[in-house]
This record gives sequence, C-alpha cells and structure tokens, in this order.
Amino acid sequence: MAQGLPEGLRPLPTNLPLTEEGLTYYEEHFGQHYRQWSEILAANAERLHKGSYSLHWLDTDKANWGKRAKPSSRGLTYTDVNREKAYGDMPKEATWMNFAPRGAVRDPYKDQMPVVDDYTVVDRDELWADNVVTLYEEAKARQWNATRDIPWDELEALPEDLEKATCQLCTFLTEVEFVAGDFPAKWLYRIPQDFLEVKSFLTTQMFDESRHQEVFRKRAIAGGGLLHASPGFEWALKAILDAPTHTMGTFLLNLLGEGLVLSVFRSGEMIAKTYVDKEIFRRCLQDEARHVSYGVLELKNYLDNHPDRETAVEEMHRFADVGEQVILTAFTEAALIEPVAVLLGGGLDKIDQGMEGMATLWEGFIDEYLARCERGGFDRAERCRIPKHAPWQAAA
Ligand SMILES: [Fe+2]
Ligand SMILES: [Fe+2]
Repeated sequence: MAQGLPEGLRPLPTNLPLTEEGLTYYEEHFGQHYRQWSEILAANAERLHKGSYSLHWLDTDKANWGKRAKPSSRGLTYTDVNREKAYGDMPKEATWMNFAPRGAVRDPYKDQMPVVDDYTVVDRDELWADNVVTLYEEAKARQWNATRDIPWDELEALPEDLEKATCQLCTFLTEVEFVAGDFPAKWLYRIPQDFLEVKSFLTTQMFDESRHQEVFRKRAIAGGGLLHASPGFEWALKAILDAPTHTMGTFLLNLLGEGLVLSVFRSGEMIAKTYVDKEIFRRCLQDEARHVSYGVLELKNYLDNHPDRETAVEEMHRFADVGEQVILTAFTEAALIEPVAVLLGGGLDKIDQGMEGMATLWEGFIDEYLARCERGGFDRAERCRIPKHAPWQAAA
C-alpha cells in the first residue's frame, strides 16, 4: 500500500531511535504536510481573531441527529446503539483511515483528513465475529482482580514435588499469557475504527491476558518461585505472533493454543492442588472460554463470507500444517507434560500414572480442537498434524 503513495505520504518509519536524526525526520514529515494542517490552523486563527463563530457543528443536515438509542434490559449495549442503521452499518471494507467515528458527519471533511498508514486490516471478515458484542459485554461484567480476588493468604504449602510442578506449570502459563496479550495488541492498532466493536473486545482480551500473566507469576513466586522457561514453548508462541493474517493468528491462538489452556483449566480439579489454585483456574477458565468462542466464530465468519471458500480453506490448511507442527513442539516439552503428569498422578513417584492421565487429557484436547475447527467450518480431522493419541501411548 505504501509503495504507490507519493513521497510525502509514505508512513514514518517506526524503528527510528529518538536521535537527532529521528526528530529531524518527524519535523520534516509534518513540514511536508504543512499546507494541509496549516491551512486549517490559519482559518481557525483568523476566525478567532475576528471574534466570530463558526457554529457549523450545529448543522444536522447530514447528521443522524435525533435517532436516539434506547437501552435494553442489560443497559445500553453496542447492539442497542447499532440498531440505528446509520450507526450500526459496518462496511465490508473500511475506507476511513483516521479516527472519524462511524455515523458522524465526516464526508465533507474527507479530503482534509490525515491518513493513518498503520490501519491495514480493512476487510471486516478478517476480524468480525457475530458474538463479539456479547463477548465484550460479558468480559466487562466478569473482570476480576488478581491482587484482591484470590485468597492469597490461604495458600497452603505443598510437598516439594507438587509445589515445583505447580510452579513449573505457572511458569509455562506465564509465557503463554504473554503471547495471548501481545497477539491482539499487535493487531489492534492495525484495525480501523469502523470496526470499533472488535477493537473494544480485543482490549478486554489484552486485559484478561495481562491479569492471567499476573496471577500465574504471583502464584509461582508466592509458592516457591518461577522455574524453567522453555525454547519449545517460545517457538510455538512465535508461530502465533508471526501469523501472516489476523484470522490465521486468531485460529492458532484462540482455537488451538487457548483451547489447550482451556483443557488444562478444565482439569483444574485434578491439577490444582490447593484451594487457591482451583480458584485461579476457575476464574481464568471463564476468561479463556470467551477468547476461544471469539476465535471459533471469527473463523466461521471469515470462511462463510469468503468469495472463494475453497481457496480460503486450502490456505488455512497450509497455515495450520505449519502452525500445528510448531505448536506440537510445545505440547511435547518436558517442562509442560512432566509437571502436569506429576500433578495428575499426585506426586513425582506417581509420574507414570500421571502420564496416563495426561494421555487422556491429550486425546480430549485434540477432540475438542477438531470439534472447534468443525464448528468454524474447517474440517481438520484428516489433516491434523498433532497425533490424536499422545506419543507415549502410541509407542506403548
Ligand atoms: Fe489467558
Ligand atoms: Fe486467552
């Protein structure tokens, strides 16, 4: 997009350190647009100098003035305000690359507006999901506080093997939660404001993930300490962050990655060894369910609305072929499966029994993952690169 633009309209490089050179570049860049904004400034100054008023903002000719939104039983939701077509009509392709709100009087000012070059996700179907407004409402209603809502002073001491296993699992979860927050953050700023409902939802996901990172970090440090970071996890997380499109990355993060985390949290009764841990898992589970739910419907919306569904499905398969393989690197890491096996078994000496439980968890997770793909309209059953049975079961 940037190539075709005249010199003065190219985006500013974002990787310049704040040096004399960077600052000079900024000055020159705004200098190049001088005529555009200085004309506005000059007109404003002249009007103020004359002591006259514009009052153009009182003109409702092109506005949707008087079409008042009515609250529903939940209060005033985005769905309620979107009932009025002028505000609710979301373009299939966004063309407003600035901050002018959907439904405001903005057409007369189009030529005077700046262009935000970072707004690159202009296709609604790369981000929309039919449940996004409901999930946003739910997210706001269910926020919790990792400082206050977890009964930290009731944290019981565990035998050393179970404590270490819990702390290792928390270390893993901390790593995962970072990418789960960084991924929506990476895309949020690329989404133009015409898709404001999705932007709102993604901000709640970022806060959810920040709280998860916080709660697992605190749990580890309160119990014994953070243990080992793991290269296998890191590669899997990078595969999510580097996904070429928002839909692809959302698929890998929300359906696959968070689906796995959801399976772990659902097994909270068996994996969590203290009341505090159960409470942490229970609260995180609710949050993760929203993220997974968004991922499923986002994929479905993308495929359902794609003009060439067959090609879109094949592209998703190509992406999933790589993504699943890289994520398998994390699934098979000792730093993940061993502590979970120790927790499931109930001690280091019962790690073998725990591995059996872990194999059941594995199978359940793959079933759930494939069912989610199917709900999204993406049949992955025949092509899934993650074995349906845990490798140690297959070998047995
Ligand atoms: Fe999370
Ligand atoms: Fe999440």
